[in-house]
Amino acid sequence: MDIMQKLEQAGIIPVVVLDRTEDAVPTAKALLKGGIGVMEITFRTAAARDAIREVAKNVPEMIVGAGTVLNVAQCEAASQAGAQFIVSPGLDIPLTESCIREGLAVIPGCVTPSEIMAILALGLKTVKFFPASVYGGLDAMKALSGPFPGLKFIPTGGVNAGNLREYIAAPFISAAGGSWMCKKRILPPENSIRSLRFQKRQSGSSGRSVNEISYSRRNHAPFKNARPRTPVSDAFSGSHFRWR
Ligand code: 3PG
Repeated sequence: MDIMQKLEQAGIIPVVVLDRTEDAVPTAKALLKGGIGVMEITFRTAAARDAIREVAKNVPEMIVGAGTVLNVAQCEAASQAGAQFIVSPGLDIPLTESCIREGLAVIPGCVTPSEIMAILALGLKTVKFFPASVYGGLDAMKALSGPFPGLKFIPTGGVNAGNLREYIAAPFISAAGGSWMCKKRILPPENSIRSLRFQKRQSGSSGRSVNEISYSRRNHAPFKNARPRTPVSDAFSGSHFRWR
């Protein structure tokens, strides 16, 4: 199974912003305890590269990637630190081509048909859709799925515990990402157990735990009594989305 398949299996990708390198390993361990085996550490802070290195070295069971990668130099730094995937908020062709050349999984940000056509021409099939809530959310991705069947989206920006189920149930969604699972205020050193409880409470507010979501995705059955990846009305009360 390649990295893109593993991300799809996980179904959710925490976007983690770390100010201090020493928080990286405890955060990775807390996420693992919470049933999340993927983390995207963003290059929004100077600690990103070293944080990725620490997780790659000390928590090998965690799939660690780099987020907010804006150029080839950051991409190389992330790759050398041990990042297994690269996420960018937009489409930068040199960055994307460099990842493809190196055999590194890359998820460029694309929200328009032209951007999507550019990545399809490069042979990619998964894009980040950011900021999802601003660019039309599920309605927009569903519309884009018409001309681009087989394309998978990873929405971030406005995804949260309240709308996660709706996102990950759509067949054109590979995984949903966001920072809601790993807010700075719950990061270690406060302690990892508190972090875990917080995550469970957050995900519990949408009716299912993070563990259950991951488990369901692994088994291709997003919800109890639902056909694989097919939301049904009782699981989606209040939802106007139907993928039948
Ligand atoms: C990202 O970098 O993908 C987004 O900033 C995450 O968005 P969120 O903070 O709304 O989850």
